[in-house]
Amino acid sequence: MKYLPQLFANNREWAEKMTAQDPEFFRRLAAIQSPEYLWIGCSDSRVPANQITGLNPGEVFVHRNIANIVVADDTNCLAVIQFAVDVLKVKHIIVCGHYGCGGVKSALLDESLGIVDEWLVHIKKVQSNHLATLNELPTVAQRWSRLCELNIIEQVVNICDTSIIRDAWSRGQEIDIHGWIYDLHDGLLRDLEVSLDRPERLKQVYAEALDKIRSST
Ligand code: CO
Repeated sequence: MKYLPQLFANNREWAEKMTAQDPEFFRRLAAIQSPEYLWIGCSDSRVPANQITGLNPGEVFVHRNIANIVVADDTNCLAVIQFAVDVLKVKHIIVCGHYGCGGVKSALLDESLGIVDEWLVHIKKVQSNHLATLNELPTVAQRWSRLCELNIIEQVVNICDTSIIRDAWSRGQEIDIHGWIYDLHDGLLRDLEVSLDRPERLKQVYAEALDKIRSST
C-alpha cells in the first residue's frame, strides 16, 4: 500500500473483527440501512457520533459541520434531514454540540480565520440574541461554554421550524428532536432537556431549557 498503509491495516483488522463477531454483519448492512437516529454534530475530530454512543455502522445517520449548525439556506444539511425523515424514517434527531467547540469560540471572540467566518455568522446571531445571558457570566471560559449550550438549543429550534419536520409532525409521523452536549474532558453526554415531539410545546420547552442552563451556573 503506497499511501496511508496504517489506515488500510486498521481497516482490515476492523473488518475481520466485525465478521468474527457476526458473520452476517456486512451482508445484512449492505442490503439495507434503517437507522433510528439522525445525528447532527460538530466536525470536531474528538466527537465521533458512533463511538461516543456505542452505535454500530447502520445505526446512526450522520451529518456534521463546524459547530453543528442547522440553517434554512444550507441545502446540504436540509437534504440530510429530509432524507432521514422522509426516506429512512428515523425516530430521533439529535443535535449534539460540545464544550470547547473551536467554532463557537471563534465567533465569541470575533476571530478571523478565513471563509469559516462566514459560516460562524450563524453563531454570532445566537450570541447577539442572548447577549444579556452571556454577559451575566464573568469569564470568557464560562461564556464560551454557555454559548455552546445556547447554540445547541437554537439549532433544535431551527430543526423544528423546518417544513420537513413541521410536515412530518402534521401527518402524524413520530419523530423526536433532542439537544445534547458532549464534554471532551470526561467523554460524557448531557441532555439539555430541550426534547420536542410536536410543535405546540416549542416555546415552553425552549423557555424552560434556557432557564435550566442559566440556573445550572
Ligand atoms: Co466544535
